[in-house]
Amino acid sequence: MITDDDALIAAAREAATRSYSPYSRFPVGAALRFADGRVVTGTNVENASYGLALCAETVAAARAMADGLRGGLEAVAVTGPGAQPITPCGRCRQVLNELAALGGTDPLILCVGESEVRRMRLSALLPEAFGPASLD
Ligand code: THU
Repeated sequence: MITDDDALIAAAREAATRSYSPYSRFPVGAALRFADGRVVTGTNVENASYGLALCAETVAAARAMADGLRGGLEAVAVTGPGAQPITPCGRCRQVLNELAALGGTDPLILCVGESEVRRMRLSALLPEAFGPASLD
């Protein structure tokens, strides 16, 4: 059965085919699903100055925000090349939290490996998060 989650994972995998990762050779894909059904994808973009690499999830979140999306983030799929499900790095968790917090959602994060998908809420990956409300 093809579920919405399968389609989101397929979108992330497709985005990973455009990864620019000549240094790590570790292509990552991300796909963000919003309440209105829109899906925004991203892939990792590396740099000859290694430390400047941008993660797939961050690229996708920045793309969504540049498109004017604010909140409504329901689900995120992240795919990597390895057998193990890939979980978002710490910086990406924080970046995703900002977008999610704008709409008050706690998105489901689909961490995808070769034959395993781990599903968890962003709040479980980033408990006690610092977010927009922390500045009030
Ligand atoms: N990477 C991501 O795109 N997302 C993550 O959550 C973890 C790591 C990328 C960064 C770098 O281009 C490559 O994977 C190896 O670390």
